[in-house]
Amino acid sequence: MFFLTLLAFAVGCQAKANANTPQMGWNSWNTFKLNFNESILEKTADLLVSTGLRDAGFNYLIIDDGWQAATRAEDGRQQVNATKLPNGIAPIAKYAHERGLKIGIYSDAGIYTCGFQPGSWGYEELDAATYAQWGIDYLKYDNCGSFQAGTQSPPERFSKMRDALVASGRDIFYSLCEWGHQFPWYWADQIGQSYRMSGDITAIFSDTGKDCACKTAYCLNTGYAGCSVLTIIRKMREIAPFSKPGSFADMDMLEIGNGNMTLHQQRTHMSFWAALKSPLIIGADISKLSKESLSVLKNKNIIQISQDSLGKAALFVPELSVEKVKQVWAGDLSGGRTVVLLLNELNSTQNFELLVKALPALNSRETWKVEDVWSKEVIKVKGNYTVAVETHETKVLVFSRN
Ligand SMILES: *[C@@H]1O[C@H](CO)[C@@H](O)[C@H](O)[C@H]1NC(C)=O
Ligand SMILES: *[C@@H]1O[C@H](CO)[C@@H](O)[C@H](O)[C@H]1NC(C)=O
Ligand SMILES: *[C@@H]1O[C@H](CO)[C@@H](O)[C@H](O)[C@H]1NC(C)=O
Ligand SMILES: *[C@@H]1O[C@H](CO)[C@@H](O)[C@H](O)[C@H]1NC(C)=O
Ligand SMILES: *[C@@H]1O[C@H](CO)[C@@H](O)[C@H](O)[C@H]1NC(C)=O
Repeated sequence: MFFLTLLAFAVGCQAKANANTPQMGWNSWNTFKLNFNESILEKTADLLVSTGLRDAGFNYLIIDDGWQAATRAEDGRQQVNATKLPNGIAPIAKYAHERGLKIGIYSDAGIYTCGFQPGSWGYEELDAATYAQWGIDYLKYDNCGSFQAGTQSPPERFSKMRDALVASGRDIFYSLCEWGHQFPWYWADQIGQSYRMSGDITAIFSDTGKDCACKTAYCLNTGYAGCSVLTIIRKMREIAPFSKPGSFADMDMLEIGNGNMTLHQQRTHMSFWAALKSPLIIGADISKLSKESLSVLKNKNIIQISQDSLGKAALFVPELSVEKVKQVWAGDLSGGRTVVLLLNELNSTQNFELLVKALPALNSRETWKVEDVWSKEVIKVKGNYTVAVETHETKVLVFSRN
């Protein structure tokens, strides 16, 4: 009896999907919004394989908002938009599975989704059972259309779907998307495997000043989408310490390959998402990725930092950073190694003097092997170290003992 109670509690706590390292994949939203269809999804599945992205680790194909029909069926089930997906979801799940991919879907903890399709509020068990029946492996769960359901807090509404996913009997990864409202870094580890920590990202590097009113983790303005890469990195100063295996802070989909970011800006984006242990979910149309953007996404050494077995996010180092000029972040990697990020926010090259003794993990009396992850150069360092960093570049340095 005691044993059964314990077991029931453990099962109620969190779905069991593996999240020791951040999830990787592709999501339809950033490029296609509500306008995708079966052939786009199947072509993307093929491209994940043929470009080598699947083998680099990007193994989830995630269908975002817009797959639903405008109304539920008479028995209450969510229906599929027959124009976009004439054969339903199950054949797409099968198509992905046959290619060694996993399949994700989207729903919402309110009455409507953000695209005004039927949300799952009040239908959690039926919807989770439907997804399980279709062969779904991953749910991204949003927070729109919840105003009528506003008597229930996000933790309550998101927990209901957690319980429904567990009850479905299928191992379904649970990705929370409530944009950092009510500070999910304090409670989301009881509910899902990752949680969004900001409004939606946009394909710009630095802020235009118009959008994404909240620039810090504890700002209470609800200013929503349009967050630049640098704004999301700014908000992570307070949030990164909470990120951990089984509960990673989600900095939103990657904009690498979208918009007009320079190579350095795209590499900075990838470097921070990897070292801060964000999920790595491609948001570009893979058929249109340049060789350059594809190589940023597939860089093995950066992906190794993302998937490092410690699962610890790099943290901001205020002593070595200068507001709007330069940022230094550092974090532990497995094997006693340390990763250091040097981000140049200026429009010109600047030197960083790295005071090794300011980095607690490093001892300035020792000689370190330092690998520059993007250039692949390896040097030996003892004591201070000066490195030139170009406009909007991030040097990613991995320090290890010989
Ligand atoms: C799917 O969408 C693409 C892009 O809009 C379009 O070219 C294609 O014809 C569509 N396919 C079907 C079957 O509707
Ligand atoms: C299916 O999607 C199309 C394109 O977005 C839309 O025009 C149509 O109304 C949708 N159909 C249903 C039944 O929701
Ligand atoms: C990117 O540049 C192209 C060509 O200069 C322009 O047409 C497009 O609007 C730009 N896109 C963004 C997102 O700034
Ligand atoms: C950096 O360059 C961009 C593009 O040329 C310009 O819009 C921006 O004002 C410059 N920023 C600074 C701080 O000089
Ligand atoms: C490192 O730089 C700091 C500050 O400039 C200086 O005080 C210190 O002596 C330097 N250490 C070495 C070993 O060069």
